[in-house]
Amino acid sequence: MNEEQRKSTSIDILAERDKKAKDYSKYFEHVYQPPSLKEARKRGKEEVNYNRDFQIDEKYRNMGNGKTFLIKTYGCQMNAHDTEVMAGILGALGYTATEDINQADVILINTCAIRENAENKVFSEIGNLKHLKKEKPETVIGVCGCMSQEESVVNKILKSYQNVDMIFGTHNIHRLPEILEEAYLSKAMVVEVWSKEGDVIENIPKVREGKIKAWVNIMYGCDKFCTYCIVPFTRGKERSRHPEDIIEEVRDLARQGYQEITLLGQNVNSYGKDIEGLAYGLGDLLEDITQIDIPRVRFTTSHPWDFTDRMIEVIANGGNIVPHIHLPVQSGNNAVLKIMGRKYTRESYLELVDRIKAKIPNVALTTDIIVGYPNETEAQFEETLSLYEEVGFEHAYTYIYSQRDGTPAAKMKDNVPTDVKKERLQRLNKKVSYYSEQAMKRYEGQIVQVLCEGASKKDEHVLAGYTSKNKLVNFKAPNEMIGQLVDVQVDEAKQYSLNGTFLRASEKAVVTQ
Ligand code: 5AD
Ligand code: SF4
Repeated sequence: MNEEQRKSTSIDILAERDKKAKDYSKYFEHVYQPPSLKEARKRGKEEVNYNRDFQIDEKYRNMGNGKTFLIKTYGCQMNAHDTEVMAGILGALGYTATEDINQADVILINTCAIRENAENKVFSEIGNLKHLKKEKPETVIGVCGCMSQEESVVNKILKSYQNVDMIFGTHNIHRLPEILEEAYLSKAMVVEVWSKEGDVIENIPKVREGKIKAWVNIMYGCDKFCTYCIVPFTRGKERSRHPEDIIEEVRDLARQGYQEITLLGQNVNSYGKDIEGLAYGLGDLLEDITQIDIPRVRFTTSHPWDFTDRMIEVIANGGNIVPHIHLPVQSGNNAVLKIMGRKYTRESYLELVDRIKAKIPNVALTTDIIVGYPNETEAQFEETLSLYEEVGFEHAYTYIYSQRDGTPAAKMKDNVPTDVKKERLQRLNKKVSYYSEQAMKRYEGQIVQVLCEGASKKDEHVLAGYTSKNKLVNFKAPNEMIGQLVDVQVDEAKQYSLNGTFLRASEKAVVTQ
């Protein structure tokens, strides 16, 4: 296509879209299936089917031959792993990955809805692509991930971002071939977002990002409905994978030489509870995974409410489960915890921490905290600070409360001014930095085991990797060490990393350092 033709096609498509957007409710049903948060909130008793026969239809197999794709990922590890699944599907269709956005024939934006600023970043990214779409109208631009589950987002894209060709939801990923074909054929924006989760699909192809560490989904969705959180709406009800499917995947990763896996779920502690007749929980799964020859196993995220003694026992028994527990507390005040719907108290959280520390003395605890919840008082915030000190977390992800439409908290009146929230976040972050630095300092002079991942981001002559407790370590060593566990003597602790001297390749894996 020459420049002139390209421009005129572009104008055609955009003009057409503009027209359609004004009356998008009249879209054909098959190209316009918008989401509904109200529907997404419902939790029914309908059975979850496990589809192990998923196949990509032969007729789509050559769709991407000679074409390239690029996926931009925002948000959590779940999203990063969904990106690997989409890359697998696109690979099966014949597309190859590119890093150059200007060259990509298909661009997918895998979005995060957890806070407003995450959404703003995505909108500015989509906005930036308007120019590219004008220049290269044949590029297919898709929006997927959690934001596409929100009707307000879909409406905004339909109204103001006609450079987007398709929007599909978190429950529609396996339909990517059909959605893409529709996008090639249709002049209208293709919207396919199911509000209700569908089957658990087992054998979608994936292309993993690395060869050293891998993510493994153990369950999907969340039924906790913390009052601030959009996740139960965007990810559907809790659906656990069957233990044998997970164990087979982990065994396969071990065979391929992966050194570390992270078991993923919005609340992994609920694992197994939704499968009728299955008397098997996360503790059992962790125990079974200790029998697999993979050096490090992590899991995230745990809700303090249903963290069982059985889990503590399995982690304490050693093996390959790392003694690093991410245990989001959100607030240290009981009244705030109550209105957050967290189902535990400050006291019961601290009691759980005591039980964990008693059984796993070398445990590293990290957490998530929200400041400036609607009507949070200074005294309530100070209880979060004091809880932080009492636990002595090694690190925390801290956030200012962000109102999410459709969640119960969004209806609450809020009397805390923004600058007060910002000031609280600063005070909390000071405490977090102090404790993180202390945790780092403890390693000075010690020998730690590091999973060497490759060149440091800051200096290509230095290698970098993480300890079992997720501390970043930089050191000089031969490149053959990449992908291996190595022993490093820590010389200097910085705020967020350790500098050390490489000693040797480790003789055997240990997760206790
Ligand atoms: N506002 C601010 N932070 C939030 N989180 C979840 N929802 C919100 C919200 N509406 C935080 C919680 C959670 C982490 C993943 O994101 O701390 O643990
Ligand atoms: Fe959101 Fe609470 Fe579920 Fe975590 S446990 S995903 S914070 S609703």
